[in-house]
Amino acid sequence: MKIVLLEDLGVSKQIIDQHSEKLKSMGHTFIAYQKSNDINILIERCQDADILMLANMPLDKQVIESAPKLKYIDVAFTGVDHLPMDVIKNKNIAVSNASGYATQAVSELCISFMIQLLRHVREVEQRCRQAGTKDGLIGNLLNNKTVGIIGAGAIGKKTAQLCKAFGCHVIAYSRSQVNDPYIDKQVSLQTLLQQSDIVSLHCPLTPETTGMIGENELKLMKKQAILINTARGGVIDSLALAEALKNKTIAGAACDVFENEPPLTKEHPLLNCPNIIVTPHIAFASEESMIQRADIVFDNLYAWLKGQHINKV
Ligand code: NAI
Repeated sequence: MKIVLLEDLGVSKQIIDQHSEKLKSMGHTFIAYQKSNDINILIERCQDADILMLANMPLDKQVIESAPKLKYIDVAFTGVDHLPMDVIKNKNIAVSNASGYATQAVSELCISFMIQLLRHVREVEQRCRQAGTKDGLIGNLLNNKTVGIIGAGAIGKKTAQLCKAFGCHVIAYSRSQVNDPYIDKQVSLQTLLQQSDIVSLHCPLTPETTGMIGENELKLMKKQAILINTARGGVIDSLALAEALKNKTIAGAACDVFENEPPLTKEHPLLNCPNIIVTPHIAFASEESMIQRADIVFDNLYAWLKGQHINKV
């Protein structure tokens, strides 16, 4: 089998070299490339591959259509919305993901966003640097707040568990039945938006969830509520959120994800509105989760080579 790794997995060269040697000793060809966005280069790299490995680089359908031997794509990421899944499905190409590698990392960042927003950390930090005081910037506790989790999967449930440790009341809106010791009640989206002090998004980006939080949904939220998005940018209407922050329809927001992968343009509406923390898609990215992610994708690969399809998408 020819196995092509299309981008860096964020682990040491030593780890990749060890897998490369092992795969070669099993009779396979393994080639690791640095990421390229050039479609012609990608077509050339993939055209005789049996297996592709990649993280979150977008892959154009032309690349898939130009790879007749392709049987398996091993994705070192949770979401697969950066892949042309319709073409992949039509060509009967199997896909695995690395679901789970970032659960702790994303949930921890969510808690950090919640506390930073509730305690106005960005603003007081600036004041402190300007030799000022905390006057007018006394914030609130996370304790006793109602947290609304949208999408109670692995990350949603872990975030619920961490929120419980802070004494929060946790409600959830999810597509399927939720049965979790850390979620107090499953509610409708409308009830969640109306009752939550903190709304945290943890659903995948699908046609159903695209634009799920727009002007009308933001208006349902409490004036003092905050919105955390570590899911996918497209789940929120960015223009509507920027307006809601300018008009104080809600009190604050934190976004780790946007419609496009950062770098964003300086004109992006969420970079030009108040009371928002923005990070360039860092929630998954801790050293520990990168190592765990590489372990999962190489386990996926060795299982596939033995005829087993695990972490199936
Ligand atoms: P998961 O598959 O375990 O959970 C997703 C949950 O969303 C499921 O409970 C599902 O029933 C629910 N859901 C699906 N469609 C829904 C809808 N229309 N309405 C309400 N709920 C819906 O996935 P996991 O591991 O918890 O990840 C969730 C998402 O977080 C991923 O799809 C990905 O987009 C994002 N993510 C972001 C990262 C970051 O670095 N910012 C890192 C990892 C994941």
